[in-house]
Amino acid sequence: MRRKLAAGNWKMNGTADDLAQIEALTAAFAAPSVDLLICPPATLIAQMVWKKGAHPLAIGGQDCHTAAKGAHTGDISAPILAAAGATAVLVGHSERRTDHQETDALVSVKATAAYDAGLTAVICIGETLAEREAGTTLDVVRNQLAGSIPDAATAANTVIAYEPVWAIGTGKIPTIEQIAEVHGFIRSELTARFAAEGEGMRVLYGGSVKPSNAADIFAVADVDGALVGGASLKADDFGPIITALEATV
Ligand code: 13P
Repeated sequence: MRRKLAAGNWKMNGTADDLAQIEALTAAFAAPSVDLLICPPATLIAQMVWKKGAHPLAIGGQDCHTAAKGAHTGDISAPILAAAGATAVLVGHSERRTDHQETDALVSVKATAAYDAGLTAVICIGETLAEREAGTTLDVVRNQLAGSIPDAATAANTVIAYEPVWAIGTGKIPTIEQIAEVHGFIRSELTARFAAEGEGMRVLYGGSVKPSNAADIFAVADVDGALVGGASLKADDFGPIITALEATV
């Protein structure tokens, strides 16, 4: 059985003032029945790790360099994230693919860098609106999975986040049927390539997940949780999403 995962991506939001949200979250879910992950700006990782104490909430980075260290001004490496207390890192988020021209091949090397540092790689994929409208969603997803996931991926070191680009931050979500179709397809691709390890990899849905739609999304068979942007910033919003996920276990 795959353990469900509620993950929050704070993107470029958050300062020390927002550590109160972590306090509220860990207080509200003292013994969560699902895995929890927050990926804040890198400046907050160490403080969040300290703030959560022994709580099982995991803290992650939002990106890592392919190299472990060196002359790469402004970048952060997987071992540096790990040393700060992170246990996971997002790689290949669509905003990185767009803002920094990240390719599947680069994302795969970043995921390998994460594995080498002992981090779980949350590998993000998803089609654009133009690709959805052209009817090529499954082809795009197939190619992204093939190109972005290293051969060394296992159920323990890899989580897949399916985030349709057109659903991110827009308030629009695919229909439940569309989510089911893509998640079922991702599962079949993972098991075809990775056998039992592929069966064990968690596949999250991301894109405008809110307290109001979380239960419907989590009822879909191959949805193992969510990667939440805007609604993860406040414990009052993220809390009901976690509760909806807990209701499925
Ligand atoms: P929103 O939940 O704000 O749509 O963002 C989703 C996302 O990109 C998470 O990585």
